[in-house]
Formats: sequence, structure tokens, C-alpha cells
Amino acid sequence: MECCRYQLIPALISLIFLCPLAHGWGVDGHLIICKIAQSRLSKSAEEAVEQLLPGYADNDLSSLCSWADRVRFRYRWSAPLHFINTPDVCNYQYDRDCKDENGEKDRCAAGAIHNYTTQLLNYGKSSQSDYNLTEGLLFLSHFMGDIHQPLHVGFASDRGGNDINVRWYTRKQVLHHVWDNNIIETAEQRFYNEDVQELIDAIQHNITTEWADQVKTWEACSETACPDIYASEGIKAACDYAYKGVEEGSVLKGKVAHTVNKVYFYSVCLREFLKLNLTADDYFLSRLPIVNLRLAQGGVRLAATLNRIFG
Ligand code: ADE
Ligand code: ZN
Ligand code: ZN
Repeated sequence: MECCRYQLIPALISLIFLCPLAHGWGVDGHLIICKIAQSRLSKSAEEAVEQLLPGYADNDLSSLCSWADRVRFRYRWSAPLHFINTPDVCNYQYDRDCKDENGEKDRCAAGAIHNYTTQLLNYGKSSQSDYNLTEGLLFLSHFMGDIHQPLHVGFASDRGGNDINVRWYTRKQVLHHVWDNNIIETAEQRFYNEDVQELIDAIQHNITTEWADQVKTWEACSETACPDIYASEGIKAACDYAYKGVEEGSVLKGKVAHTVNKVYFYSVCLREFLKLNLTADDYFLSRLPIVNLRLAQGGVRLAATLNRIFG
């Protein structure tokens, strides 16, 4: 029995690490969004973030952007705040969709963004001590990332793609995990020397070139935070790109090496038009631009929100 206990404990520990529950972009997605955001902070927001971060973070917000995922067992109440489910429709309405599985209102990613924004507006006031604003900053930074992951605003019936089995190249995966992790990981391996900083640099470059004209529109918000805009875009991207062409168990199968060129894109369009199975490569290369765009928007909007909060 003693021998079994010694084998059981490491086995359980590795199970926990091998089977992370899907609760957001993977670590790299959140890290990318927070790195982009911190590089765009105003002087006063930069100072507030530095004050609020614990000393061990060494003034690096990105090092704690997945903190909300790590505390989801300690703070069980926080689990529904990582996502939004629609009743299987391609649009989002706060009053209809922002609730938890018990129907409790405001308990979704958009409600959480409003809540932590409101709390952080107490920064520097005498009411500051009523709240834990360090946790507020970490929750806001994380949920701003989650709401930009298209399948975090997904269909209730498949739990944002968590119940859709696919094959990602040679591995079995659920569609939700493909969007949290695999597309980013595969991009890093194939195009960025396995170096997340190279991917961040590429996205930052696009923000100042290809997307420069759109950045003001991304930032626009008539209140302090505008999560409903991001959630509406999210479910649309989920329908148009994440769910599109995907059928339970029958997709992303073979592996075909393509180069990214016009012929490739026409072949993808034709395949989709003819409703043929998408290969993992088809799916990866055609969805990667959406992942890059959502990471950029997440970072730009987190910075814009923190800049509005801290003045
Ligand atoms: N659990 C249930 N729905 C979910 C979603 N859309 N994203 C992540 N986790 C979920
Ligand atoms: Zn999350
Ligand atoms: Zn997730």
C-alpha cells in the first residue's frame, strides 16, 4: 500500500498538469496581450500598475496575467467569469447572455470587466482600502484577454468548443484548446523560432503598420470599459472562423504542407465552398490571422482601459 501511495501522488500531480481545464487563452496568449498592453500605458497608468503589482512581479504585468487561471480552484466563484455563452446564436446580448449556469446575472467575462473596472476607479481614493485592487488589476487584465478569445464567447451547447473533438495534426484535441493554445504554439514553432517574444514583436509591428489606421477604432469607448463590443465581435469570429467548417471528429485530419500564397488561399476557399474536410494546415493558416488580430486588439484595449481608469 505504501508503495502505491508514493506512485499515486506523482501520478495525480502530473494528471493535474497534463489536463488543464480550459479557462482562457493559454499562458502565451495572456502573456502576449499583457506585454502589448504594458508597452502602451500612459505615465499615470504605468505608475499605478507598478504600485499595484506585487514586488515579486518585478513590474512585469505579463508575469501575472494567468494568475486568474491559477486561482480558479481557490476562488471557485470566479470560474464563470472567464467566458460568455450564447444560446447557440451568432450574436451577443448582455441581458440575455451575461449570467452563470444558475442564471445569476452579471456573472460572465463582460460583467467581470465592468466590476473590476469600477473597483479600480477607487485607486488613489480613501475608498481604495475597501477592495483588493491588486487582484482587481490581475482579474481585469486576464478577463480582457479571455473576452478576445473567440471561443470564450461561444455556444452554450458545446461549452465554447470544449465538447467538440478534433484532431490537431497528429493529436486528439478539443476545438476550444486549439484556440486557447495550439494555433499560437504552432505559429511559434513554425514562424518564430519557438520564441514568444518574436511573435510579440511581429504583432507590435503590425499594430504600427498594417493595423495603424484601425487602432483608434479599437480603442474607442464611450464609457471606461466596453466589453459588450468585444463580446459581440467575439461570437461573430467564433461563428465565422472557429466553428466554421468544423464538424465533430471529422475535421483537421490529414496534414498537407502548403505555402502561404494566393493559390493556397484559393484552395482553402474552394475546399470550404465544396464543404470538404479542412486539414489542420488549412485551418491553422487561415485562422492564424484572426488569432493575431484578437491578441493585438486585446492588448491595445487593455492598455486603453487602464489609461482611462488611471487617468
Ligand atoms: N465553459 C463553458 N463555456 C465555456 C466557454 N465558452 N469558454 C470556456 N469555458 C467554458
Ligand atoms: Zn481565463
Ligand atoms: Zn479557454
